[in-house]
Amino acid sequence: MNGASAGVLLNTTTGVATPVPVTSPPGSPSTGAVGVPRPRVEGGAKVSGVARYAADEPIDDLAYGSMVLATVSRGRVSDIDVSVALAMPGVLGVIDHSNAPRLNPKAGNFFGPDAGLLLLQDDVIPFAGWPIALVVARTPEMAQAAADSVRATYQAELHDTTFSAAHPGARPALTIFGEEANVGDVDAQLAAADVVVDERYRTPEEHCGAMELHSATAWWEGDRLQAFDSNQGPFTVAAVLATLFSLPLDRIRIRSEHVGGGFGSKGLCGPQLVLAVMGSMRFGHPVRVTLTRNQVFLLTPPRPATDQRVRIGATADGRLTAIDHQAVFSLSRLGEYVENCTEMTKTMYAAPAVRTRLSAVPLDVLPPNSVRGPGMTPGSFALESAIDEVAERLGMDPVEFRLRNEPSVGPVSGLPFSSGNLPACLREGARRFNWAARDPRPRRRREGHLLIGTSVAAANFSTGALPSSAAITAEADGTFSVLIGASDIGTGARTALIALAADALAVPTELIRIRIADTDFGPAWAAGGSRGTTSWAWAISEAAAKLRGEFADAARPVTATADTTELVFNLPPMERHAYSSIFSEVTVDPATGEVRVRRLLGIFAIGRVVNPLTARSQATGGMIMGLSIALHEESVRDAVSGRHVNADFAGYHIAAHADVPEVEAGFVPDYEPGDPWGIKGVGEIGTVATAASIANAVWHATGVRQRTLPIRLDRVLEERVPTTERDL
Ligand code: MOS
Repeated sequence: MNGASAGVLLNTTTGVATPVPVTSPPGSPSTGAVGVPRPRVEGGAKVSGVARYAADEPIDDLAYGSMVLATVSRGRVSDIDVSVALAMPGVLGVIDHSNAPRLNPKAGNFFGPDAGLLLLQDDVIPFAGWPIALVVARTPEMAQAAADSVRATYQAELHDTTFSAAHPGARPALTIFGEEANVGDVDAQLAAADVVVDERYRTPEEHCGAMELHSATAWWEGDRLQAFDSNQGPFTVAAVLATLFSLPLDRIRIRSEHVGGGFGSKGLCGPQLVLAVMGSMRFGHPVRVTLTRNQVFLLTPPRPATDQRVRIGATADGRLTAIDHQAVFSLSRLGEYVENCTEMTKTMYAAPAVRTRLSAVPLDVLPPNSVRGPGMTPGSFALESAIDEVAERLGMDPVEFRLRNEPSVGPVSGLPFSSGNLPACLREGARRFNWAARDPRPRRRREGHLLIGTSVAAANFSTGALPSSAAITAEADGTFSVLIGASDIGTGARTALIALAADALAVPTELIRIRIADTDFGPAWAAGGSRGTTSWAWAISEAAAKLRGEFADAARPVTATADTTELVFNLPPMERHAYSSIFSEVTVDPATGEVRVRRLLGIFAIGRVVNPLTARSQATGGMIMGLSIALHEESVRDAVSGRHVNADFAGYHIAAHADVPEVEAGFVPDYEPGDPWGIKGVGEIGTVATAASIANAVWHATGVRQRTLPIRLDRVLEERVPTTERDL
């Protein structure tokens, strides 16, 4: 395990570890740009309003599409009366299932075919909010007014939108992320354990809530489809669109120069783009479709609700003997998805017996997908709450308990860790948080009427790279143009890639001109899975190496290209993870049930830190998302209508400035030997574990465990009238 001030390169054949300095990538001379704090290169353009997001790009002859959404949760459209809309000023026409272009039902995503993409193909309504028509007009206001005038009648059918772990439709989830764990004899170990915790943890449906509304503009240049779209990866979106509209990939160009947050919801081909393309085909104008905030909630993928049972056995001296983690999540009938809640359970702690099971409950709801630490965020809430409960029952310090169960190899895989650095995160966090001064007993600290609690939780997040390509041109004027289909969703990706390219070429950053987020730059992985920078940096360093080698003496301009597909798939299998420890301090008002987070400290092992300034922002931003998930976020469905009742920012509460305390992030020296730059990724590790840390701190303040998120006032309130929901 690597906790020293330099990284190590581990030869997986010989097992020999070679120290490497953390400031310079192996095999590539450094100008020292990587590791230096740098503000975002596009920051000025963003704060001055010059940066163009998808809905801002000027286009001649533009028309606007506005959707009509179904108001029943299941059934069929009997009639759509568009007569009023067609007579309104500026209206070009209406597309519905009777006249829409036909789509290829094989289109889907990583998880398989996704019927949620097949808009306006038939009269079936699979969930409330399903688009049943698109009105296209000369201005957004005309389109909206005309869409509002459309009268639809429905043949409603009985719907089923209520998630429960005991639902008779529950069935095994896809094993797309690997088989379930079944190591050792869990039942025998639990029966023999000195201490057993057996609890259920619940998390609600949550939404991404990106600030920028999802928008697409589509038009045709000859037979080539062009689009501006808000997404996390233009190439992955183009690949879906190609299947959906049966077009060769090279006849699609998608650009997404600036994107105002994604958090998972912009990882896939969105309804805005499918409908904008249909509009452009039907009316011969460029068509722009921008979701309203309400439509973002109704139509872009949420995180499914989860209900998880965790059973943990331990010996009296604090050794884990068994972990059993059974998670059930909600699904849509329209397509597959896996909320991979049990991943951390397979990799985090040493235990001779580990068993996991993931089940899905298909319902008449919007298809869920990745949201801010998919799987790991609800999964770590369950596991890290349960770990804290075991430590409590053992009378053992929760930091020490975790250190005592640090695995030497993957507990389920048996594979070695590339750089298992959790102990360093726990020790450094404990030091900075002054953990040693904490009284472990609950309900001991008071300030006036407030109860004070502190706690900790930890997490890992798998790391790696996915295939990407890049092109670098040594220009005649001495600069270098770097072209890569990466997306910068607000993380600072562009700025990081400039530093990486400068070091790869051994030139100052001023000589790098980067262009991103365009499918014409070739295939590249999306800004998702905490794998953007690792994937893109690898492609850039390969192209740079070619330029510096084969093309060093060529006349300028000269271009080198690289594709990392073979490289990333040939990496020896190891357990590769980023790590976090999250320490928190909360106040609880027992009279009102109000929980406020007073301090958050996250210590992370993310490999080499490419840009400490933006990495810190990602880490603290992720922790704030975790705070928000702990205390505020909850999509609520009305069981009778099946409709989402808080589908806007008035009803769906996301942490605001007043909710956010002092948040600190720190990085321990770390290096990922499987990555040419030593990088792991920082996108999601900040969010994971934060909710458990806060829930554990609420227990420390009050003596009462909170096993259902969000930790609402009514769940904390003492001397309350019991309600059925609280006692669920
Ligand atoms: Mo993310 S939730 O990996 O886009």
